[in-house]
Amino acid sequence: MDTPDPQAVCSPITSAAIFIVATLNAEAEAAEKVRDWCADIAGLTRSVGKRVPSGNLSCVCGFSSSAWDRLFGSPRPASLHDFREFGVEGRRAVSTPGDLLLHIRADQMDLCFELATQLMSALDGAVTVTDEVQGFRYFDMRSIIGFVDGTENPVGRKAEHFTLVGDEDQTFSGGSYVLVQKYLHNMKAWNELPVEAQERVIGRTKLSDIELDDSVKPSNSHSALTTITKDGEEVKILRDNMPFGRPGAGEFGTYFIGYARSPEPLEQMLENMFVGKPPGNYDRLLDFSTAVTGSLFFVPSADLLEELAER
Ligand code: HEM
Repeated sequence: MDTPDPQAVCSPITSAAIFIVATLNAEAEAAEKVRDWCADIAGLTRSVGKRVPSGNLSCVCGFSSSAWDRLFGSPRPASLHDFREFGVEGRRAVSTPGDLLLHIRADQMDLCFELATQLMSALDGAVTVTDEVQGFRYFDMRSIIGFVDGTENPVGRKAEHFTLVGDEDQTFSGGSYVLVQKYLHNMKAWNELPVEAQERVIGRTKLSDIELDDSVKPSNSHSALTTITKDGEEVKILRDNMPFGRPGAGEFGTYFIGYARSPEPLEQMLENMFVGKPPGNYDRLLDFSTAVTGSLFFVPSADLLEELAER
């Protein structure tokens, strides 16, 4: 059996993105409308994207566990469940409402904006938006905290291997799991840390983005805690975080988005960051960053997304 075409999970890095999380409204017609809309996403993306062929417009759409049950019923993706919270009081990966995720990427914000407008107008009345963020690429791929972000992402076939469901769940092959979290940073406190101390928090040098040597990299650095292995092999995820913010309001954020073949590595990383490895040895990035949203979604393959309209 041929592997179905995935949605644009492994699409190239772009300079703009819009993230929309919405809940499904209660009426039966709402579910009907969302199902019909599944068949329109690809066409709308083509219509908007064709107008600027060099703009790399893409859209990924995901569904939460409870939305899946309500919209499509059985069969369901084997590992899809509601997002479980991690952490302790004062340092929590919170779980917040969200049934539907739109991850729209392009090299121009106007393309993202137009596609978001078209997709949301087709959903009118069926969903309630709980969070919407416009992200931008910041200098040389830096996160808002000034460090280059995304360096250790897998590329090419490895990116597909680590993000796309395979034979382990054949009905859903070509699909992917995705975690989103909106983080707000205390930039004043972060900027008061000397650069060398910031580098020990991340585990890499700030200017040149070189990984710290194991002899000096702390076990509670972000990079140490998010490097995980299973049966002796490193397990990666694919991230496309985006800075966002409103300087006038003192808001500085990172919209975290991570794709994986199963929720397991994403959850293991969160456990290491928020609880600590061993417990208590937590990610010092969290002393300066607060997760204000968190949701887990399943991204069906592009082929399945179209078929779901008929369920
Ligand atoms: C506060 C939000 C976050 C910020 C600002 C941030 C920033 C960074 C930076 C600057 C790096 C180093 C460069 C790189 O390899 O990309 C990094 C690495 C990484 N981050 Fe994050 N990150 C955040 C949250 C998360 C979360 C929530 C996860 C997982 C659930 C995660 C997983 C990873 C992984 C897997 C790496 C690569 C580790 C390695 O192989 O060395 N990050 N992050």
